[in-house]
Amino acid sequence: MKALQERIRQEGQILSEKVLKVDSFLNHQVDTGLAVEIGKEFARLFAHEKITKVLTIEASGIQFAMATGIALGVPFVYAKKKKAITQGDVVYAASVHSFTKQETYQVTIVQSYLNKEDRILIVDDFLATGAALVGLADIVEASGATLVGVGCVIEKTFQEGRGLLEERQIPIQSLARISSMSPGHVDFIEETPL
Ligand code: G4P
Ligand code: NA
Ligand code: NA
Repeated sequence: MKALQERIRQEGQILSEKVLKVDSFLNHQVDTGLAVEIGKEFARLFAHEKITKVLTIEASGIQFAMATGIALGVPFVYAKKKKAITQGDVVYAASVHSFTKQETYQVTIVQSYLNKEDRILIVDDFLATGAALVGLADIVEASGATLVGVGCVIEKTFQEGRGLLEERQIPIQSLARISSMSPGHVDFIEETPL
């Protein structure tokens, strides 16, 4: 997605060779027009899949899952990282190790929001180590729903996430694929069409 790649080049801050900061337009302040276009693009890429629900994880997947859900005309659900006291319901849970925060946390989804009949598209801001996405894929599998694919706004191809998802035969579409980066420089590679 050209507009996205240009924004990454203009506004992305490379904090280290592995961490890209996109807080000014993607995941702290959010460019709503760009988020809507991202949602439309995921909807277009997975149009043939009869998706019934979009799934993401809080916090920075939410705006893209919502945009995608609107474009597809389906609800979205986001996995929660802390189990609220009021959340007395039965949940699906997975543990996720965060490489940016160096900690392991539980993600949960109330069981009644995922059903065997559902066809799920997972959407997230980054594909990095894949830990968060594999946790969500485990939850979809536990629910008996069908996982049709994963849509990532930004993929860092030099981390292991894609490999972990492909081992499970999960189709991936990333809108910007970064093959390498260093301060002042970002290299993109194109997605191969489905
Ligand atoms: P993932 O590949 O399955 O997303 O999982 P990973 O464990 O590698 O990433 C952990 C968290 O760090 C994820 O956020 C992911 O979006 C974020 N992340 C990974 N690489 C980068 C990066 O280069 N820059 C930024 N800004 N974030 C990155 P999360 O757990 O969904 O948390 P939240 O930040 O959305 O609350
Ligand atoms: Na995220
Ligand atoms: Na994030």
